[in-house]
Order: sequence, then C-alpha cells, then structure tokens
Amino acid sequence: MLLARAAAAVFALATLAHASPAPSFPRASPSAVLSKPNIVFIIVDDQDARQNSIDTMPHLQRLLVDEGTRFNKFFAPISVCCPSRSSFLRSQCAHNTNITSVMPPYGGWSVFNEKGMNGHYLPTFLANANYDVRYVGKLMNGHSVNAFTGDFEADGFVDHAFLLDPNTYDYWSPAFSRANGTVEYRPGEYSTDLVAEKAIAFLAQAAETPDKPFFLGVAPIAPHSHISTSGHSGGLPGLFDLPRAAPRHAHLFQDVKLNSSRESHNPDVPSGASWVRTLDKLNSTNVEYIEEFYRARLQALQAVDELVEGVINKLEEIGKLDDTIVIYTSDNGFEANAGHRRQPGKTLPYEEDINVPLVVRGPGVPRGLVDNHSVYSLADLGSTVLHLAGAQADYDHDGSLVPLTHELREQVERDGGTKGFHLAEYWVEGIGEGKYGSGITRFNQTYRAVRVVEGDEINYSYAVWCTGEREIYDLNTDPDQMHNLALAPLAPTSFTARLHTRLDALLLVLKSCSGNSCRNPWKVIFRDGKVQSLRTALDEKYDAYFEALPRVRYSECRLGFHIKLEAPFWTEDLAYSPGKEYVPLDAGFGASQIVLSA
Ligand SMILES: *[C@@H]1O[C@H](CO)[C@@H](O)[C@H](O)[C@H]1NC(C)=O
Ligand SMILES: *[C@@H]1O[C@H](CO)[C@@H](O)[C@H](O)[C@H]1NC(C)=O
Ligand SMILES: *[C@@H]1O[C@H](CO)[C@@H](O)[C@H](O)[C@H]1NC(C)=O
Ligand SMILES: *[C@@H]1O[C@H](CO)[C@@H](O)[C@H](O)[C@H]1NC(C)=O
Ligand SMILES: *[C@@H]1O[C@H](CO)[C@@H](O)[C@H](O)[C@H]1NC(C)=O
Ligand SMILES: *[C@@H]1O[C@H](CO)[C@@H](O)[C@H](O)[C@H]1NC(C)=O
Ligand SMILES: *[C@@H]1O[C@H](CO)[C@@H](O)[C@H](O)[C@H]1NC(C)=O
Repeated sequence: MLLARAAAAVFALATLAHASPAPSFPRASPSAVLSKPNIVFIIVDDQDARQNSIDTMPHLQRLLVDEGTRFNKFFAPISVCCPSRSSFLRSQCAHNTNITSVMPPYGGWSVFNEKGMNGHYLPTFLANANYDVRYVGKLMNGHSVNAFTGDFEADGFVDHAFLLDPNTYDYWSPAFSRANGTVEYRPGEYSTDLVAEKAIAFLAQAAETPDKPFFLGVAPIAPHSHISTSGHSGGLPGLFDLPRAAPRHAHLFQDVKLNSSRESHNPDVPSGASWVRTLDKLNSTNVEYIEEFYRARLQALQAVDELVEGVINKLEEIGKLDDTIVIYTSDNGFEANAGHRRQPGKTLPYEEDINVPLVVRGPGVPRGLVDNHSVYSLADLGSTVLHLAGAQADYDHDGSLVPLTHELREQVERDGGTKGFHLAEYWVEGIGEGKYGSGITRFNQTYRAVRVVEGDEINYSYAVWCTGEREIYDLNTDPDQMHNLALAPLAPTSFTARLHTRLDALLLVLKSCSGNSCRNPWKVIFRDGKVQSLRTALDEKYDAYFEALPRVRYSECRLGFHIKLEAPFWTEDLAYSPGKEYVPLDAGFGASQIVLSA
C-alpha cells in the first residue's frame, strides 16, 4: 500500500443492510441475534492469499481457520493500502471514495479529511450504534505525528494507538498516537509486539464497560516492506527494504524456495500488459534476492501469528470469546515469486495483488468451512460489519453482505445467492519494492478489472488498461494469468469473443456503479432479472445485443481518477430490451482491440 510518490440507494436487501440485528428472521436462533457481538478486526498489511502465506501461521490455523470460515475468493477493491482501507471504512468502491493513492493530491489521511469522510465512516457509525470503538496500528497512510490531532483528529474512537508516519513502516522505531494528543515513540522495540500488547490492553479496558459491545481494530504493519524512519526525505519514503522479523523468528523458513514451477515465475517470454510487458527477464542475483524477500515476509508474519493467539487468549480470559466475531484479513495482496518478471510489489490486477486472506470466527460463524466460490471485497466486509453491529452509514454505500454467519448465509441464499464478481480498480502510478524495485515509478497503470467466479466452471479475470490493452485469463486452465485470450484476433462467433463482450458489459456497469448497481450489475443490464450471471449471459441469443454495446475504454493514461477520460459510461437506455433488434457496431472485439505481438 505505499507508493514512493505520489453514497443509501435502496439495497434489494434493504431490511438487511439497515435493520439492527433484531430477531426479524424467524429461522435464526434467538441467542445469536439478541445482543450485538463484539468485533475484533485484524487487518495486516500486504499479505497475499495466492502464495498461501496463512498456511505458515499455526496459531491462525488452529484458532481461526479450524474454528471458523475461510473465504478463498476475497479481494482488495484497489491494490494499494490507504485506498483499500478507505473502501473498507466507507463500504464503497474506490471510484466512489476517490481515494486512489497513498499521498496527496489523490489520497492519504489529509485528502480523506478534505473530502469530508472523517466522521462519516465505520468508526463513527459503530460509535453511534453504542459501540466502544478502539484501534491500534495503522489506520491509513499520511496519518502522521503532525496530522492525527486538531482538524485531522480521527472521529469515533474511545481510545487509540495509531501507528504514525514517518515511523509507520519502521519495524524497529514505531510511533503511536495517544488519546491525549501526544506521541509515544518506542525506538528499539518491535512494532508488531507493541501492537499486540496494546491490543490486549484495550481488550481488558473494553471489558470494563459491559453495557457496551466493543469494536477493536488491530492493524500491524507486517508483512509490509520495512522503511526506516531515517530513510524518509522531504516526506518521501526511501528504500522499501526486506520486512524485519522479530529476532526469535529470524531463523525460520531458511529452506523456503520460490515456486519456480509456476509458469509466471520469471518466464522466458514477456507477459501481462502495459509496463509489465516491457520487463526483462530477471538475473539470478535478483531472483535470489526476491527469495530472501519472500522468506522475510513469512518470518515477519510469525509475530502476527502470535498476536492472533494473544488476542484469542485474552478474549477467553475476559469471558468474551463466545460473543466476539474475530476477523482476519489484509488490505491488499502482494507478488513475491518473481511473477511476470516483477520485483516484489502490489498494485496490479493479477491474483497475487488483489486476492487477500479472509478468515472469521465467532458466534454464528460456521466452523471449519472453506468457501471457494463466494466473491467479496473489503467494501463488502465494511457493510457486513455495520450490519452485524446494527449500525448504519449516513449515505448510500456500495457493499453487499458477506455470508459470515449461518444466518447471513441463509439470507444471501434467499436473496439470489452469493456474489460472483469483483471490481478491481487503479489510477495512480505503480512501484516496485525491494533493492531493485524501490524508486522505480511505473506510469500507464490505470486500469479496471473484473474477476468472475461462478461454481467451478467459470473462473475468469478481465482487465482494460488506459493504454487500450485488454486481458482475459481463464484461471481454470491458466492459474498464473500467462495466456491472454484477448491478444489474438477473434472470430466474433468464437466463445472467447462472446465471453469478451459479456465481461466488458459487466465492467462497463461496475466501473461507475453506486449502491444497488454495485450489488446487482446483471439486473442493470437485464432489468427483468432473467439473467443474473455470466453463465446465463453467455447464451448465444444475446450475442447481437452485447456486440452492440459501447466498450470500456480510456481516452488517455493520466494520474488520478478523471471522469472525462473514462467515457463512455453505462446509461439506462443501454439495458437489454427483449423486443428490440440489435445490430452489432463492429465485427466483435476483433476490430477495436489493440493487438500486441508477443
Ligand atoms: C498524555 O498521556 C501520557 C500517557 O498517559 C502521559 O505520560 C502524558 O503526560 C500525557 N500528556 C499530556 C500533555 O497530557
Ligand atoms: C508450485 O506451483 C505448481 C504449479 O502451479 C503447483 O502445482 C505446486 O503445487 C506449487 N508448489 C507449492 C509448494 O506451492
Ligand atoms: C542483476 O539485475 C539487477 C537488477 O536489474 C542489477 O542491478 C544487477 O547488476 C544484475 N546483476 C548481475 C550479476 O548481472
Ligand atoms: C477449495 O479449493 C482448494 C484448492 O483450490 C481445494 O483444495 C479444496 O478442496 C476446496 N475446498 C472445497 C470445500 O471445495
Ligand atoms: C504509455 O502508453 C502509451 C500508449 O501505449 C505509450 O505511447 C507511452 O509511451 C506510455 N508511457 C510510458 C511512460 O510508459
Ligand atoms: C479458479 O482458478 C484458481 C487458479 O487456478 C484455482 O485455484 C481455483 O481452484 C479455480 N476455481 C475456483 C472455483 O476458484
Ligand atoms: C478525484 O479526486 C481528484 C483529486 O482531488 C480530482 O482531481 C478528481 O477530479 C476527482 N475525480 C472525480 C471523478 O471526482
């Protein structure tokens, strides 16, 4: 999440999104809904799901995965930290927060404030619903020793220990906010351990007000790159160095290797789009460095694993484990396998960058469930936390309910089933990390992407870049996203061409969706509700309709989200009309796409 530079439409589930969890659903067991649950929200920084790093965390496996539900198709709305965290806090897509960067003018804590979102976000909504709201760790970038009080004081918290810039990413020199407006500097102490200690102290304090449920946010920086406080100059961070392990974990994972069997691992042929396609093959020194980087990430995660154990033990000790929902996730993913010849980093639309862990346990949460098919994002998780707390946003947000509990799962099933698509967006520059990537700024990195999973058969990703490039990958046959199906000219009648028009239409709706259209994009396209999935939209009888739709495109690449560069937009008159004769605009996608030579 760090770069070197740098709304209440009526939900189909309105009663769900806005009602308090009073027992309005007869099939729910009364004990599960009578009182508001406590919520502990653990959000780490830059942990991927694709490389299965949570499998290296034994406490998390025993205390969360085995005792709760693991969602394998959970995604970051935007693969960079402050924007993704903003999407969670506001339950909105990034195009609706317009927090697109970690730094002004496009993002960061000051811009979050300038856009009027402080005080109109999850912490205040929870406080308004009678929650005792506390937070330890990183809230978002730009939350600094100079900008956490006064005009920029974060609303809604009873107490806090925010990690503050410029010390945030220094594993050995953290600076924490205090509620009285002073800063607590802890040079020479290990950041994650202090976050764990403070989280446990907050739990003890929250237990002292039994009339109030609590929400505790816990946000350690691991496994983000280490950026030393002294390495900052003029406000800009320097080297994105190897994550730092606690000394007790520094000996671990010495034998771990990168997975060189993966097709995307430092391939002989260039792959991907935009600047990724221009990368040279990495030399062995660089690959060995990435391996060291990967090990350092796993090591740094071990202190987080102990934090998880500490939090669960404390909840048990204060008698709150049975009425507390514990959520574990990450703000965005990370690539650290030399994939597509890349340096370590995030920000791209590939699975490594956008797929993040989500594990949940607590009252009503199925035990031992692994959900491979439900597709949700941090924006959805934000609205689900509000729902569980009986809290409401003061604007129309975009989130769907993630089926965390048995009760929610039944409701979601009744209302048409779990979500099968995810919108991933990006507008600012990309940056590599590590010794060979830090300081290299990548332009032409504006894109919109959609990830679709329906059952076991449908498993696609589709991206449209500001450069005009398009990418379609079938993840069932191409897990590493190496064979771009949009590269070859396609006969309009081919399956891939038909797939392409459908994915593009879905993206056209999602890229400017708000509220209900983010939850039910198919219903925007097919207003009679007869088509509610990619699978049914693929029917040949809709070929001419989809071919006639305008395509997602950008008029040029530029930093930031500028609406005038992003025409055309979905308009209601584009919706499918059963009686109408559709005439294709051109010969399918083949005529309009930019074809690049491999
Ligand atoms: C703020 O709180 C800290 C820790 O309790 C205390 O040491 C410090 O004196 C307080 N400062 C002010 C200005 O109240
Ligand atoms: C490495 O990648 C290959 C190819 O995708 C996969 O079959 C294998 O399970 C992976 N190995 C590990 C240890 O993850
Ligand atoms: C390997 O690649 C890195 C990054 O491009 C470069 O700095 C280094 O000099 C190269 N090393 C060798 C031995 O070629
Ligand atoms: C979920 O997917 C994983 C690998 O992708 C597979 O090993 C596992 O069996 C699946 N679980 C279920 C419940 O389908
Ligand atoms: C961005 O993309 C355009 C169009 O493909 C290209 O002409 C330009 O050179 C690229 N700019 C950079 C900085 O890569
Ligand atoms: C989709 O593709 C990914 C990557 O190959 C694979 O792990 C997963 O099992 C596939 N199926 C589903 C339902 O996600
Ligand atoms: C997003 O914010 C930037 C910076 O404030 C502004 O330039 C841009 O016009 C905004 N975009 C939209 C679509 O509101």
